[in-house]
Amino acid sequence: MAEDGKWSTVAALLLEWYGRTARVLPWRERRSLYGTVLSEFMLRQTRVAAAIPYYLRWMERFPDFRSVAEADEGELLCLWSGLGYYGRVRQLKQLCTALCDRRSPPAAPSEWQKFPGVGPYCAAAIAAIGQNYDVVALDANGLRILCRLSGLGPFSSRSAAERALRPSADALALSGRCGPISEALMDLGNGHCRAGRPDCVACPLRDHCAVVQRNLVPENFSKFSTPRSRREERRRLWLQDGRGLWLAVGSGSRLAGLYELPTLPAGTGAGPVLRTIRRRISSTDYVEPVHGADGRLEELLVALRSDGQEVQLFSLDELERLPISGPHGRCIADILANG
Ligand code: ADE
Repeated sequence: MAEDGKWSTVAALLLEWYGRTARVLPWRERRSLYGTVLSEFMLRQTRVAAAIPYYLRWMERFPDFRSVAEADEGELLCLWSGLGYYGRVRQLKQLCTALCDRRSPPAAPSEWQKFPGVGPYCAAAIAAIGQNYDVVALDANGLRILCRLSGLGPFSSRSAAERALRPSADALALSGRCGPISEALMDLGNGHCRAGRPDCVACPLRDHCAVVQRNLVPENFSKFSTPRSRREERRRLWLQDGRGLWLAVGSGSRLAGLYELPTLPAGTGAGPVLRTIRRRISSTDYVEPVHGADGRLEELLVALRSDGQEVQLFSLDELERLPISGPHGRCIADILANG
């Protein structure tokens, strides 16, 4: 079957399946643009089951854009309390306020995307579900389903998957039916086409799925999120004597010119851990235990120099004016203040 024929058949099958099995959810029962916006904001980092009671309470207290625009932010936060990611509340209030100031709501996803907190998925979902705009919204479920149907992937990142799968999503778009198609993808990804252990046998799309037809492993077509963060440990040294504190000057593009506690060379012993610094750089979580010198200051300085670290002694007064990286600066201040 030609590719276009495949996607229009898939769209028809999805709609037929959704018509029979759609989940009953409060934002689907009484549909409105406001309800769609609210549900998409709540569901951004929250599972459906967790969001339902919050959605119902919120709708009762704040039933429309204007009530949110005029609400006290503290009250909004109270009602959101427990859902997490509280930045969403401020963004929702900003959006509601902006909408109340306009004569009509945005008419296309690109316009919704101008609001803070509204990314490509959210904009497409609001436009498709709330305004019947002809675009298929692809959340993680939709991306996974299209990966498997087309046999494309795995992808190194979500944005790479979005770029590669957008033509398939556009081919799925059936004029006037993109809201239900988007929601059908959400339901199918939550049911049959789960990330782990999908139920391909009962899937309504199995006859059109590359993974099923080619006997591929469906779990291999689920990985398009940003890579999990790595964890690295780096041991640091607290080298203080009567004259001051020894620091190493950082190198590399991120830390060039910034001072930090020296790094304990591999295989070198040191004293007990005084503090542990935790920091994230890009997608790496660093855990940095800070060891005391345990009376071995001179020996450790020799080890640091032969390790190639540029260490310098600074009086405690000088530390105040020294560019020290944030996490190390806070740790140094803490040890100096509290021992
Ligand atoms: N996740 C985000 N939007 C949703 C919707 N409308 N239905 C179910 N799950 C969703």
